[in-house]
Amino acid sequence: MNSNEIKVFCPATVANVSCGFDVLGFALDLVGDEMIIRKTSNYGIKISKISGQKLPLETNKNVAGVAGLAFLEASPYSGGFEIEIHKKIKPGSGIGSSAASSAGAVWGMNELLGRPFSTLQLVEFAMQGEKLASDVHHADNVAPALFGGFALVRSYNPLDVVAIPTPTALFVTVIHPQIEIKTSDSRKILRTTITLQKGIRQWGNLGGLIAGLYTEDYGLISRSLEDHIVEPIRSILIPGFDEIKKAALESGALGCGISGSGPSIFALSKGKAIAEKVAEAMAGVYKNIEIDFDVHVSKINAEGMKKL
Ligand code: HSE
Repeated sequence: MNSNEIKVFCPATVANVSCGFDVLGFALDLVGDEMIIRKTSNYGIKISKISGQKLPLETNKNVAGVAGLAFLEASPYSGGFEIEIHKKIKPGSGIGSSAASSAGAVWGMNELLGRPFSTLQLVEFAMQGEKLASDVHHADNVAPALFGGFALVRSYNPLDVVAIPTPTALFVTVIHPQIEIKTSDSRKILRTTITLQKGIRQWGNLGGLIAGLYTEDYGLISRSLEDHIVEPIRSILIPGFDEIKKAALESGALGCGISGSGPSIFALSKGKAIAEKVAEAMAGVYKNIEIDFDVHVSKINAEGMKKL
């Protein structure tokens, strides 16, 4: 690879993390897409190749293209970029497929130009890709993909992202039933108002989760992984959700919930051995009800994007 080209690992991410709808997410190790980005003398973004999934090559219909254009428009650079996307994360799986492509594109471009933009600015550009994919500028996948670890979107206007430390023994199990749920569809079914009582429970839990992550208090993390607002509605779309959650908790998971807008389900555990036991228990439920699935056990990825 020369200095005009970069190969990037773009991590999958779990958004919402039960109590942090639209404001909290974390990045996964090992599970992610790969992208190759090259500088070109022509201005503009060209998606030259996509493998692994059927996705549009037209720049303005592709999330990486749209995020890349937002980057380019804000940059004094007069050239352009060519992008190859090698998808390993299935779109509509709930582990940040569009975010990996959007964030990977702008991260790679920023590296090639000597980092003219801050990570926060890259989040803003990548959010344009999320807008194309889901109709909403949510940052709870792109922020952890770019910052690594857990990232909290404290505010959207102005954008304010806080990188939260990751407890060293924390592992995630993610199970993906082979059905597709579009984020835009699973947002349409949500209510737009909540009661004060539900708000109190949710922000108590979100504060508790953040405090637990800072202090490596696994008990507090476990007590805080609750969602009484979104999960009861969205879980109806996910086959076997209640059984999977029960199996995960009985196997020792700290908590279990919907990954992003689903259908993937995540569970957090203290230590790899428990996370693997949880994976087995979750897989057992889907084997019983004959649903095809993928399951991953991963450390939390503290770095985010990586140069390969
Ligand atoms: N916060 C977003 C949602 C994440 O739940 O709709 C989508 O991955």
